[in-house]
Amino acid sequence: MKKLVTLLLIVPALALAIIVASCTKEGEQGPPGENGINGTDGTATCGQCHNSGEAFLAKVIQWEASTHATGGNFERNDKSCAPCHTSMGFREVIETHADTTAAKVQDPTPPNCYTCHQIHETYEAADWALRSIDPVALRTDGTNTSMGQGNLCSNCHQINPPNPMPVIGTTEDITITSPYWGPHHGPQANMFTGNGGYEVGSGYGNSFHTANVESGCVQCHLADPYGVQAGGHSMNMTYAYHGHDVVNKAGCLECHTDPDNLDTKIEETKADIDEKLDELKVLLMAMGVLDEGDHVVPGTMPSLSAGAVYNYLFVLEDRSGGSHNFAYAKKLLDNTIEAIQ
Ligand code: HEC
Ligand code: HEC
Ligand code: HEC
Ligand code: HEC
Ligand code: HEC
Ligand code: HEC
Repeated sequence: MKKLVTLLLIVPALALAIIVASCTKEGEQGPPGENGINGTDGTATCGQCHNSGEAFLAKVIQWEASTHATGGNFERNDKSCAPCHTSMGFREVIETHADTTAAKVQDPTPPNCYTCHQIHETYEAADWALRSIDPVALRTDGTNTSMGQGNLCSNCHQINPPNPMPVIGTTEDITITSPYWGPHHGPQANMFTGNGGYEVGSGYGNSFHTANVESGCVQCHLADPYGVQAGGHSMNMTYAYHGHDVVNKAGCLECHTDPDNLDTKIEETKADIDEKLDELKVLLMAMGVLDEGDHVVPGTMPSLSAGAVYNYLFVLEDRSGGSHNFAYAKKLLDNTIEAIQ
C-alpha cells in the first residue's frame, strides 16, 4: 500500500517536471527548487516567436486587416463548406483528403495563423512551416496544381463544381433549381492554371504567368506590403492612393521592370475582359438565363446555356481582370460568345 501511495505522488511530480523541463532550453539547468539554481525561463523556446517583436506584430496586424480575418463567412461551417470556410475544417481535410468534413464544425474560426502554419505543434520555429504545399488535385477534373507555396491557397481558392454540372457536347437539357448555382466565389486556382472552364470551341492556351510565376498566388499576393492594405499577410492586391485603387506591384517588378508600362497593361487587360463580360451578360440576359444581379435564373435549359452562365461567373468571380491568366479568360469568353450567338 505504501508503495502505491509513493507511486501516486511520484507520477504527477514527474509529469510536472517533464512539462517544466520541456519549457526550458535543452541542456539548461532544471526547474527552480528551494535550494536549486534558477532554471531558464520557460519562454526560451516560446520566445523564438513570441519574442521576435515587431516582425511578428506586422504579420498579425496585416492578417487582422485581411478578408480572411474580416470577411465573416466562417459561419459557413456545414460539412460541405467547412473545408474552405473554417480553419478546423481545413486542417481536417488536409489530412483526410476528403471534399467534406465528417461533421459540422463547432466553434468555427476563419482562416488564421494555425490554418496555414503548424503553430504550437512542436513549439519550435519549425512550426512556421506551411501546413501543406502539396499539389492540389482540382475538384473540377483532378488536374494537379503545381505552384509551390501557392498550392496552399489553391486548396480553397478553387471551383467547387455545381450540381448539376453542364456537360460539353450534349444536347440534353439540365435543370437548375438554385439562383446560387455556379462555380462558386473563389475560382482563382482554376483560372491561374487554365482549368475547369466549360470549354466550347478550340484554341485554349495559358498566359506566361501560369508556367513561370513559380510560387503562384504567393509571389503576387504576399509581396512586400503597402501598410495593411495590400501585400504581406493582408494578401490583397490593391490599395487606395489619392482616391483611387492601385495594384501593389512589388511582386511584379522583377519581370515587369517599368511600373508605368505595367499600370497601362493592367488597365488594358481589365478593360478587355470587362468589355467581353458585358457583351456576354447582355446575351445571357436576352436568353433569360441570367439576371441583372449576376445570378442564374433557375429553370430547365440547354447544357450550352448553363455552360455559358458558368463561364461568365467563372471569369467574373475570378476578379483578376485578366491578370491571372489573360489568354485563357479571353479565349473562354470569346468562344462562349461565339457559341451562343
Ligand atoms: C512557431 C512560432 C511559435 C512558437 C514557437 C510558440 N508560439 Fe505561441 N503563438 C504563435 C502564433 C502565431 C500565435 C497566434 C497569434 C497570436 O495570437 O498572436 C500564438 C498564440 C499564443 C498564445 C495566445 C493564444 C492561445 O493559444 O492562448 C499563447 C498564450 C501562446 N501562443 C503561448 C505560447 C507558449 C507558452 C509557447 C512555448 C511553449 C509558444 N506559444 C510557442 C506562435 C508560436
Ligand atoms: C482555408 C481556406 C483558405 C486558404 C488556405 C486560403 N484562403 Fe484566401 N480566402 C478564403 C476564404 C473563405 C475567403 C473569404 C473569407 C470570407 O469572406 O469570410 C478568402 C479571401 C481571400 C482574399 C480576399 C478576397 C476578397 O474578397 O477581397 C484573398 C486576396 C485571398 N483569400 C488570398 C489567399 C492567398 C494568396 C492564399 C494563400 C497564401 C489564401 N487566400 C489561402 C479561404 C482560404
Ligand atoms: C473549395 C472551397 C470552398 C467551398 C467548398 C465553399 N466555399 Fe464559399 N468561398 C470560398 C472562397 C475561396 C471564397 C472567397 C472568394 C473571394 O472572396 O474571392 C468563398 C466565398 C463565399 C461567400 C461570399 C461570397 C461573397 O461574394 O462575398 C459565401 C456566401 C460562400 N462562400 C458560401 C459558401 C457555402 C454556403 C458553402 C457550402 C455550401 C461554401 N461557400 C463552400 C471557397 C469555398
Ligand atoms: C492564408 C494562409 C496564411 C495565414 C492565414 C497566415 N500565414 Fe503566415 N505565411 C503564409 C505564407 C504562404 C508564407 C510564406 C510567404 C513568404 O515567405 O513570403 C507565410 C510566412 C509567414 C512568416 C515568415 C515565416 C518564415 O519562415 O520566415 C511569418 C512569421 C508568418 N507567416 C506569420 C503568420 C502569423 C503570425 C499569422 C497569423 C496572424 C499568419 N502567418 C497567418 C501563409 C499564411
Ligand atoms: C501574376 C500575379 C498574380 C498571381 C500569380 C495571382 N494573382 Fe490574384 N490577383 C492579381 C491581380 C493583379 C488581381 C486584381 C487586382 C485588382 O485589380 O483588383 C488579383 C485578384 C485576385 C483576387 C480578387 C480580390 C483582390 O484582391 O483583388 C483574389 C481572391 C485572388 N487574386 C486570389 C489569387 C489566388 C488564390 C491565386 C493563386 C491561385 C492568385 N490570386 C494568383 C495578381 C495575381
Ligand atoms: C515571372 C515573371 C512575371 C511576374 C512575377 C509577373 N509577370 Fe505579368 N507577365 C510576364 C510576362 C513575360 C508577360 C507577357 C509579356 C508581356 O505582356 O509583358 C506578362 C503579362 C502580363 C499581363 C498582360 C496579360 C497577359 O497575360 O499577357 C498583365 C496584365 C500582367 N502580366 C500583370 C502582372 C502583374 C499585375 C504582376 C504582379 C502582381 C505580374 N504580372 C507579375 C511576366 C511576369
